[in-house]
This record gives sequence, structure tokens and C-alpha cells, in this order.
Amino acid sequence: MEERRMHRLQIALTKGRLQEQSVELFEKIGIDCTPIHEPGRRLIHHLPDYPMDAFLAKAPDVITYVEHGVCDLGIVGKDTILEKGHSFYEVLDLGFGKCKFALAGPKDRDFYAGYHTRTIASKYPNVTRAFFDKKGMDVHIIKIEGSVELAPIVGLADAIVDIVETGATLKANGLEVIEDVAPVSARLIVNTASMKLYQKEINALIERLEKELATHA
Ligand code: PRP
Repeated sequence: MEERRMHRLQIALTKGRLQEQSVELFEKIGIDCTPIHEPGRRLIHHLPDYPMDAFLAKAPDVITYVEHGVCDLGIVGKDTILEKGHSFYEVLDLGFGKCKFALAGPKDRDFYAGYHTRTIASKYPNVTRAFFDKKGMDVHIIKIEGSVELAPIVGLADAIVDIVETGATLKANGLEVIEDVAPVSARLIVNTASMKLYQKEINALIERLEKELATHA
């Protein structure tokens, strides 16, 4: 039987900080990522010495491209995965892009005191809903697109559910963590059909990444 030709993998990388750390990881396992170092306005990059093309996309769109099978693989934060839900395989915790989801509110105020329905502002309404559902607590959620820390300061919300990395933004705005919600880091995701069709190519990449990650574990 004629052997199937090697498939050129398509990977979607989350633009920005995760893109830089993804490139760093790929270079550690010997994949030349020169074209992505200075991508300019170009969004698809052909890697010169590895059968893979890299797409640069916004985090939620990385998931969309992988779910639709346009990309076989993606690198995206667990924050986006938790918010968008998933119908793909999450195969590796890449260990970078570490931060957490936290419930935060004004310093020295008891969030749980009293019986009124709390209002929570968040860029992540699904994560917020799931967190409070688990507690059996009914809350009113307001979706905010960014700089969520503003909401409790100006009285729009009692608290926020947001990403906390260093804690500097909370501190600078007189807020503090009330409770941790979930840890976050970058994940490698795989389209379910690609996993079967291009098992050999995908597993070869996963094995190399796993080996590299294990040396720093
Ligand atoms: C994120 C997050 C916090 C901040 C946390 O915002 O929403 O605001 O980083 O980081 P820190 O704990 O290290 O201060 P981002 O910079 O992505 O912008 P955004 O607020 O517009 O979403």
C-alpha cells in the first residue's frame, strides 16, 4: 500500500505574550521560528525546517480555528478554554502564561456579609457563572470588556472575577483577592479529527514538547 504523504501541520498561536513564549519553546526543541520573530502584519508563517505553518490569532479565535479544523493544533490560555468551553483535545499544559482567575473586591470589605444579590463584573461571564453556581450563590453578572478593576471602584459591581498575575493591578486600585477561582496557563489543543488523521505528525510534536517540558519540571 502506498504510504500517506506527510501532512503539513497547521497551528494557531495566540498573538502577543503567549506567541513569544510559544516560539521560545519551539526553538528549544529545535524548530526554526525565524519568520515569526518579526512577523510584521503577516498572519500565516511557513516554518522553514519543520512541516508546520503558524497562524497568529486572538485567543478565542485560536479555539474557533481549531474547532473548525482549519488548524490542527493551537496554543491558548486555559482562561479562554474555561470561558469558551471546548470540543477539542487539551493535550499539554505548556507551563508558561501562568496566572489565575480570582474573585476580587475592595480591600477590607466583607464580600459575603449580608443577604443581597451581589453584582459581579467580569470579562469572563461563563467562568463567573460556573464559580458561583458551584457555591449555590445567585449573582448578577455584568460583562465588561477590559480594565474590569474599574467596576467596583465606581460602584458598578461589588466584586470582579478576573485574571491576576502579579496582583499589581488589584493593589494599585485598592482591591484584593477574596478567593482563587482557577489556575491558568497555556495549553496545547488539538482538533479531534486531526488527532486521528495526522496522529503520527501530531504525536511526534507532542513527544518532543513533553520531553522538553519534563527537563524543566
Ligand atoms: C489583565 C487582567 C488584569 C491584569 C492582571 O489585564 O485583566 O487587569 O492583567 O495582571 P497583574 O495581576 O499582573 O496586575 P490586561 O493587561 O490583559 O488588560 P485588560 O484589563 O484590558 O483585559
